[in-house]
Amino acid sequence: METALTIADLKERARRRVPKMFFDYADSGAWTESTYRANEADFARIRLRQRVLVDMTDRSLASEMAGQPVAMPLALSPTGLTGMQHADGEILAAQAAEAFGVPFCLSTMSVCSIESVAAATTKPFWFQLYVMRDRDFIERLIDRAKAAKCGALVLTLDLQILGQRHKDVRNGLSTPPKFTPKHIWQVATRPAWAFEMLGTKNRTFGNIVGHARNVGDISSLSAWTAEQFDPRLSWADVAWIKEKWGGKLILKGILDPEDARMAADTGADAIIVSNHGGRQLDGARSSISALPAIVEAVGDRIEVHMDGGVRSGQDVLKAVALGAKGAWIGRPFLYGLGAGGRAGVTRALEIIRHELDVSMALCGRRDIRTVDADIIDRAP
Ligand code: GLV
Repeated sequence: METALTIADLKERARRRVPKMFFDYADSGAWTESTYRANEADFARIRLRQRVLVDMTDRSLASEMAGQPVAMPLALSPTGLTGMQHADGEILAAQAAEAFGVPFCLSTMSVCSIESVAAATTKPFWFQLYVMRDRDFIERLIDRAKAAKCGALVLTLDLQILGQRHKDVRNGLSTPPKFTPKHIWQVATRPAWAFEMLGTKNRTFGNIVGHARNVGDISSLSAWTAEQFDPRLSWADVAWIKEKWGGKLILKGILDPEDARMAADTGADAIIVSNHGGRQLDGARSSISALPAIVEAVGDRIEVHMDGGVRSGQDVLKAVALGAKGAWIGRPFLYGLGAGGRAGVTRALEIIRHELDVSMALCGRRDIRTVDADIIDRAP
């Protein structure tokens, strides 16, 4: 893994190891993918101020996110189907994050269940909730996250209806893969992935199948989402979930200052400025471009995080400089996972930590907690 020097290197390795339908599922945005591309492009446009002859010894990246100490201000985003990038993917990513000292957030749409991740880790991980029409199931899911001692609940607000990703439709994405000639070919050409997958029982949605009524294998993610997810989800439901959960609550999917104000009014602990990695509303602005106005609107009332387009430590530094208490990564750790399981996730984190540390130093800062907008070069 040491020869992978960038997240892009890990992405190319993952492309060679993971069956196309699952690699594409991670590497896609909605419709024209303009928001997906903008997330990365807008980071690239931000410039940093190079400073010299300042003491660069004794640097620290340690910080806190939602009250939890973190080795660097970064968390692993909840991503669906993580266990299809690599056998037991959620377990491996959670273990890598725990050893590294950053939060791992398990998705409702994970392959490994809450209980199996809890059994394989020693510290609390976070849990992401999608609200479905079946409220009994949601109550049970919250209870299961409590029983597993999850440290925070991340409630996703921006995916009650699924944005269309053309690649998924073309690939006929399903879990487990259907045995059409196309899928057999995609799996057969990735023998290492297939061999590892034979060694695990975790091959479908572990939090759902066997726990929710009338759900067997999920033949079409989009049809299933349309049927199960509750499109009436409202701010009143957020209050209900906050009450039922009783612990740290993070609201994910805020892109507008007006929604940010309403999110702050709920008394939640943090918000994540996010457009779901460009996978939902194509045409929405990038997360990093939305961040400053949201920090301006609510930064004194609620902790603000961001995700979308983070591909390097420089990106994390820019997000922190613009007011984020932490950044979240989805695809970068999935590429690491696909490329090399737990070691690949660790490598993704090492790459980002190194880039963050050196870039912070070259901006003349020694402590991530002192980084502010002053490190951004705004000159024309
Ligand atoms: C689920 O969260 C997805 O974006 O597919």
